[in-house]
Amino acid sequence: MKKSTAMLLVCMTLILSIGSTAIVGAKQVLKVGTSADFPPFEFQDEKTGAYLGFDVDLIHAIGKAAGMEVKIVNTAWDGLIPGLLTGNFDCIISAMTITEERLKAVAFSDPYFSASQVIVTKADDSSIQTADDLKGKMISVQIGTTGDLEASEIEGATVKRFNLAPDAIQEVRNGSVPACIIDLAVAEEMSKEYKDIKFGEPITTENYGIAIRKNNTELVEKINQALVAIKASGEYDKIYADWF
Ligand code: ARG
Repeated sequence: MKKSTAMLLVCMTLILSIGSTAIVGAKQVLKVGTSADFPPFEFQDEKTGAYLGFDVDLIHAIGKAAGMEVKIVNTAWDGLIPGLLTGNFDCIISAMTITEERLKAVAFSDPYFSASQVIVTKADDSSIQTADDLKGKMISVQIGTTGDLEASEIEGATVKRFNLAPDAIQEVRNGSVPACIIDLAVAEEMSKEYKDIKFGEPITTENYGIAIRKNNTELVEKINQALVAIKASGEYDKIYADWF
């Protein structure tokens, strides 16, 4: 009796473990490129190194809805599109604005977040309100971002480009440049942490999308369907409320 119970247990454990490996093994892995320098969208926990943020939670929810296991691949911002094109990952979630220029190289999912650029200055600087006030001035940006695009269009401005977004903000705090152009939610997050900076009214309207290789129409479809599903289920709103 005891022996047969033990045998039964062994058998059940075997079946269970084989079953679960089979499921994990069959699950498609979605490799996701991100530049984890952009709180509250994507950043790393200082102690554990874990990837955190709105985009991180969103892509996990999308993966779950689409039956895929998500693997985050941290990559420098200006290496994201090249990395996607060479196949280092299947898609990019990185607070990436859908732009005409990028659409020439990659496809985007449906928009998942409305965003804008803002001007960050020292908290006690009242001389800069609009983009016009930046004419002839020095402006820090993250290289190759929509903030870089905006800054580059300002007459006579000198654009100082940084690989990491926080370094562009730091430059304003240092007093090395009078202003930085960056995404609103990031400016908001940073000025909560650093009381010596503030930001102004939105100067652009943008939408973030998940970038996917143009020939991977199947994945574009899957991600769009998952977005619809997590919006309908309330999961999207829950994640939004967690971060904003
Ligand atoms: N939204 C801006 C853009 O698309 C900046 C995004 C930067 N993202 C990041 N993870 N550093 O150009």
